[in-house]
Amino acid sequence: MGEQAKLSVGGKDIAYPVLSGSIGPDVVDIRKLYGDTGLFTYDPGFTSTAACESAITFIDGEEGVLLHRGYPIGQLAEHSSFMETCYLLLNGELPGKDELTSFTTTISRHTMVHEQLRQLYQGFRRDAHPMAIMCGVVGALSAFYHDSTDIADPEHRKISSHRLIAKMPTIAAMAYKYSVGQPFMHPDNSLSYTGNFMQMTFGVPAEKYELHPAVEKAMDRIFILHADHEQNASTSTVRLAGSSGANPFACIAAGIACLWGPAHGGANEAALNMLREIGTVDRIPHYIERAKDKNDPFRLMGFGHRVYKNYDPRAAVMQKTVREVFDALKVKDPVFDVALELEHMALNDPYFIDKKLFPNVDFYSGIILSAIGFPTTMFTALFALARTVGWVAQWNEMISDPYQKIGRPRQLYTGAPERDYVPVAKR
Ligand code: CMC
Repeated sequence: MGEQAKLSVGGKDIAYPVLSGSIGPDVVDIRKLYGDTGLFTYDPGFTSTAACESAITFIDGEEGVLLHRGYPIGQLAEHSSFMETCYLLLNGELPGKDELTSFTTTISRHTMVHEQLRQLYQGFRRDAHPMAIMCGVVGALSAFYHDSTDIADPEHRKISSHRLIAKMPTIAAMAYKYSVGQPFMHPDNSLSYTGNFMQMTFGVPAEKYELHPAVEKAMDRIFILHADHEQNASTSTVRLAGSSGANPFACIAAGIACLWGPAHGGANEAALNMLREIGTVDRIPHYIERAKDKNDPFRLMGFGHRVYKNYDPRAAVMQKTVREVFDALKVKDPVFDVALELEHMALNDPYFIDKKLFPNVDFYSGIILSAIGFPTTMFTALFALARTVGWVAQWNEMISDPYQKIGRPRQLYTGAPERDYVPVAKR
């Protein structure tokens, strides 16, 4: 028998198995706890709870390590492409040359959206946030693609995964086009996944769209950096929604809704807004003091992480990418100097050192996206686009698991005990 964790409660000694993964902390299997003792565990925010078994992504937050199917994120960002990373996340192994070509072709064949779906956009206000449009339009996909919503059928699951990955750039680009009052651009399947997204976003029918290769590479890398991140809030949302048997389009819409929050994917938008508000290096100390003040709700956006207690490896790549994009486009943005100095000051301040708060993926990404020409409101939509592959890979892994159950947390009830109803005249 392997290692066991012993619990003494109510005069009883009970042992629970300790399970080991391939790497990372072991877990105590407490599935029988309630049956054995009538007790639940209490862990709001899941700070110590593994909610599932997964073979997709591994994070060592203390060491700042992020692996997709075993491959370090730095190597993927440097040498891989987003399409190849998608294949890896979905299938577990890097593709051979022919497999990659075939996968890329399949994705490109699904880039168009149903013509009727385009009309949905007209129902939104022009100033609607792109994430509001994404929540609605992606949820609506289930009304268009009934032929791939039988979640018990692996082929259906595969097709719907491909559809979601392929259509997300089209949907996000349309959200942008709608907000600026320009015509929607059709996908051009002769372009790369990323090049096509850029063409649909920034191209216009009146002119040929030229994309700087360094910008295409930077965008592709940004997509890789956001592709998956283990059991984060939006992925857990997708899993929970999917655990009831809901169709994948509805589940991904749920993930998009969760991602939108400023503590999660909305942080990239909030981080750039914060850096612009700080404006100049001399104002940084004031904002650092505010972030440390318990009576001020202000936090340094793009800083801190539930899992990373070290430098987020994605932030390091992002910082390097800012310089590459600035060089390629021959632009500068004083906000980058503010970001670098803010990082420097925070990392030398005992508050941030003691709490192990480091820049996360969102700290530098907005500076790149802004230099490329995206408005801040599009930042989280780009995160959603890239995270879609992680969501569908994790959803598929969950549905394929024969032991999968509906997710149903318990609670510590603190409300009124049972009492009798009193008619309104007597209250
Ligand atoms: N600025 C100032 N103080 C902070 C910050 C910050 N950005 N982040 C955490 N702290 C403090 C917090 O006040 C708390 O202090 P104390 O122990 O004295 O109460 C301590 O550090 C631990 O914070 P927490 O909120 O309990 O930690 P958490 O794991 O629940 O939250 C977080 C993680 C990412 C939500 C949080 O660090 C945060 O709000 N950061 C800013 C938003 C952000 O950048 N989010 C993007 C996360 S990465 C991308 C993604 O996942 O989407």
